[in-house]
Amino acid sequence: MKKNTIITVLLFSVAGLAVMTGCENKRKPGKIYMPDMTYSRAIETYAPLDSVFFTTDEKNPKGEIYYNRKPVEGSIARGELFPYTLPNDSLGYAMSAQVKNPLPPLVTKDSVEAARLFNINCAICHGAGAQGNGPLSTSGKIGAIANLTLPLYVSMTDGTMFHSIHYGKNNMGSYAGQLSRLQRWQIIQYVRTLQPKAAAAPKADSAAVAKK
Ligand code: HEC
Repeated sequence: MKKNTIITVLLFSVAGLAVMTGCENKRKPGKIYMPDMTYSRAIETYAPLDSVFFTTDEKNPKGEIYYNRKPVEGSIARGELFPYTLPNDSLGYAMSAQVKNPLPPLVTKDSVEAARLFNINCAICHGAGAQGNGPLSTSGKIGAIANLTLPLYVSMTDGTMFHSIHYGKNNMGSYAGQLSRLQRWQIIQYVRTLQPKAAAAPKADSAAVAKK
């Protein structure tokens, strides 16, 4: 009987110690007794990798496998359009006029989605009608918000609009992180529907080509 009690107490203290070593840093496991159970053999998102075999340090591999979980440079997510490569400078801005909107005309389902995206991301400044009168404009919080229904923007090509949405322009931030390329081209198509019908976008396109 006495022997049993001693064994039980011993077992509990060992278990307690094991639990406590795991508590020091919640993000890192403490002592690992069975690596096969701690680390998944498959590489899983956010799951820690076995530091015996893997390292995220490119400069200090020490024979371990270097793996930083980042997509290989140049990878394109499934369903995403090709990257936008024009540089963020005045030359890139000028050249953007030549870039064509790669999407076919929006079908109803897509235009509902484009309108939704515009109202979430752009209307706060540009207004639901794109007249530059959103809440941040009327409250005076952000100045010089473009009225996208003006002739200047009616004749602006889709490519230039995309360039400005991609990199941002003055008081307008970049939307490259918030909206996929596909969504950005869709929003531009939606902006066109808000502009006056005399929209001369195709004409401006050919004018830009003629200049070249
Ligand atoms: C924080 C307020 C703000 C938000 C949000 C915003 N814009 Fe703008 N936008 C501006 C301002 C300010 C300008 C004028 C920039 C300039 O020419 O100085 C502008 C200009 C533009 C232009 C003209 C760019 C050019 O090359 O002259 C387009 C097109 C445009 N915005 C589209 C959008 C779209 C589409 C969205 C949503 C994805 C959006 N904006 C969201 C503030 C905003």
